[in-house]
Amino acid sequence: MIDFELTEDHKMVQSVAREIAARKVAPTIRDFDRKHEFDPTLITALKEADLMGVCVPEKYGGMGMDYISLGLVCEELEYADTSARVIFSVHIGLNSMTLLGWASEEQKEKYLIPQAKGEKIATFGLTEPGAGTDAVGIATTADKDGDHYILNGEKMWISLADVADNFLIFAWTDRDKKEKRDHSGISCFIVEREFEGVTTGSIPGKLGVRAGNTGWIAMQDVKVSKENMVGEPDEGFKIAMTCLDGGRYTVAAGSTGLIKACIDASVEYCRTRKTFETEISQHQLVKEMLAEMEYGYQAGRLLWWKAGWLKNKGVRNTRETAMAKWFCTDQAEKAAYNAVQIHGAYGFSDEYPVERFFRNSKGAAIYEGTREIQKLMQADYLLGFRKDKETRLMVPGYEE
Ligand code: CAA
Repeated sequence: MIDFELTEDHKMVQSVAREIAARKVAPTIRDFDRKHEFDPTLITALKEADLMGVCVPEKYGGMGMDYISLGLVCEELEYADTSARVIFSVHIGLNSMTLLGWASEEQKEKYLIPQAKGEKIATFGLTEPGAGTDAVGIATTADKDGDHYILNGEKMWISLADVADNFLIFAWTDRDKKEKRDHSGISCFIVEREFEGVTTGSIPGKLGVRAGNTGWIAMQDVKVSKENMVGEPDEGFKIAMTCLDGGRYTVAAGSTGLIKACIDASVEYCRTRKTFETEISQHQLVKEMLAEMEYGYQAGRLLWWKAGWLKNKGVRNTRETAMAKWFCTDQAEKAAYNAVQIHGAYGFSDEYPVERFFRNSKGAAIYEGTREIQKLMQADYLLGFRKDKETRLMVPGYEE
């Protein structure tokens, strides 16, 4: 039976996230955004509310909620600011949920539990200066040396690079396969900030998500125990792709929060601003922009809810998640563009939040798989060039 009703648990987690967004993000975000500064106390607030492990099972230190709850938290955080959602997305969507699906019991004990409790912060490192969409184009290597691997390389555009304690790093363990671009030569490792040879830095001058920490991770002869390899040596690329099924979902859900923020700001402005002696809400072209925002919001929610429903069932959802990510981020860009337009000259300054929404909306059409990649994936499914098949381990579904 299809059910569009949120459960009491969903409403509870939604209201907790809404309260944090309103109390911790909204009042100070303009200043943090202006200064390009990250607010570490937001992580403390998320930790105190137990949200850092919202959909990690209780036995691994989480709240044991489902994937819809994960999406609802993203939506509420991004309503206040994209950077707040990004912090949460990379920690849980890209890292912790991947450990849940692929890590050994020992790794879960050592890394997942502290992450779910918010005691340790985590992120994900696939992208490099020379490889984004082309994930097989990464250059980072991990050479076997007895019981260890020696990692060398650089990751770039990494959210929380300067903040996280733990990184999921993708590297070539088979140099012959690297030459042949055979993805089965890529492996996945848990790397700690404290490991010798790890350095990080932030990237200045970003267009948007200015209150989020975005940076690089450099690894020079970093010695990583073989116990820190996640999955098997040939599974790194598939692990990265399943991570992205998780991460893209959080981006999609966050984007409907951004659309809702554009709607609310625009409706309020429309009801107060007058031109030609009437509220601008009376102008049909303004109404059209509002209606299009609502269309994106309602349809976008259905898409990520469906992806979340599939995730709860433990069913592969790459196609649905990619569609949700494409549509929701596309609609968020359009909504933010129109929100600025409705605000006229005021939308051009940070006196109103829509200017920030506009800048923030651009990133999501690029990160975690560009709009173009999501489109190509849809076409490839239609043409039969791409088929979803089960992998050895998938991120598990939700068990009540
Ligand atoms: N789940 C499980 N397995 C998957 C999978 C998934 N979602 N996607 C692919 N696979 C498997 C396939 O089944 C296939 O398995 P076999 O070899 O056994 O047949 C294998 O992985 C290779 O898959 P594809 O042939 O589909 O791979 P591809 O080379 O065609 O993929 C691509 C191309 C779609 C462009 C992919 O590389 C991609 O999505 N690129 C975008 C990467 C991206 O989003 N990067 C952003 C990272 S965000 C970041 O790093 C920054 C940060 O701050 C977090």
